[in-house]
Amino acid sequence: MKTNWPYEFPGINWLGKEEEKAVLDVVRKGSLFRYYGPQAPTHVAQLEDWAKHFYGAKHALAVNSGTGALCTTMSALQIGPGNEVIVPAFLWVSTVTAIVQCNAIPVLGEIDDSFNMDARDLRKKITKRTKLIVAVHMAGTPCDMGAIMQVANEHKIPVLEDCAQCNGGSFQGRKVGTFGKVGIFSLQINKNVTAGEGGIIVTDDDALYKRLVATHDVGVPWENSAPNEASDVQFWGQGRRMGELAGAVANVQLRRLPDIVTHMRASKQRIKTAISDLPGVSFRRLNDADGDTGPFLVLCFDAELHARQVLESLKKNVRNVWRLCEYGLHIYHNIGSLVKKVPLSPAGNPWSLPQNADSVYDYRKGACPRSDELFARSILITIPSRLTRAQEKEMAEAIRASLAEGR
Ligand SMILES: Cc1ncc(COP(=O)(O)O)c(C=O)c1O
Repeated sequence: MKTNWPYEFPGINWLGKEEEKAVLDVVRKGSLFRYYGPQAPTHVAQLEDWAKHFYGAKHALAVNSGTGALCTTMSALQIGPGNEVIVPAFLWVSTVTAIVQCNAIPVLGEIDDSFNMDARDLRKKITKRTKLIVAVHMAGTPCDMGAIMQVANEHKIPVLEDCAQCNGGSFQGRKVGTFGKVGIFSLQINKNVTAGEGGIIVTDDDALYKRLVATHDVGVPWENSAPNEASDVQFWGQGRRMGELAGAVANVQLRRLPDIVTHMRASKQRIKTAISDLPGVSFRRLNDADGDTGPFLVLCFDAELHARQVLESLKKNVRNVWRLCEYGLHIYHNIGSLVKKVPLSPAGNPWSLPQNADSVYDYRKGACPRSDELFARSILITIPSRLTRAQEKEMAEAIRASLAEGR
């Protein structure tokens, strides 16, 4: 196995002097808190300004993590008992966590051969209790937001886009995160850009933004460097502020995002081209190849056995490779607390709440059979973010060798 390839953490390979300088600025000023300090803090505010411009959204709010962004957003949307929230079978545990934390009920939707939410199945999963649809742009690639928004608009159900894994991605020329009512991003170390921890929420909705600012902190919005106790928004806060150190790094990293994504997408495309003649294997369908961000390659085999055999060989030749069904908490049936319907408290909530009595769902393997079938015969390979042409060739050759060995 080659070990001299760059790290799989995309943003880390692009950290430079600018991040160092920004962090030093925070430390030297002693202004570590975003709203006030010994000197006026600037970094989180600049990050938010840049995020608005970059994503093309009216408002952007920085928070402490992607999970924090999801919980803040669902709470600000007042998701609660009696509500169902539809999520895809391929996701990350945090998306479900945020729903359960609101005492609402997650409903699973199938993915299609793009490995993102299947809009046709989404339509079937809508009930009169559906309060929110979460479109998760998984493994670097955008959902078909045209089809999803059509279903959502027909039923007048808001959409939250979880863009944690697709920062900088787009669908038909428009940035992911800006199609639905609200979009969230993560800045955790595995993501396209990182501050170690962090999240961003974007929306065009003025009233929602005010609630988001209130919810992410003390329950009332910050105005002029202080919580406005007299605000018309009086809610419950969650203590999810971003600090200036994370903001300093994120503010530089987000400006690097177009270069990172362009590089990853091109590397992935060249690797795909180099292995595209191999029989018995195809690639995940991309809803928009130009809007793909490139950190993962998904290979689909004709049969489960074939995928198993290739995986054994790939494990020897490349780093960070999984058969999708074994890809941890990204797959609904691997989320133990969901499968077992673990309650939030001894009262049994949310599952036992009378408001949720009509929302009884099974989350065990088999709940999404079409997704299960795809997961079983597909393999995900991480593409490091700063491969040289020579390293891309090595990677393509390693994959070719494994595909030949695994036949
Ligand atoms: C799809 C998705 N949503 C949300 C999150 C949560 O982000 P964070 O780790 O910053 O809390 C992740 C992180 O892995 C993710 O992949």
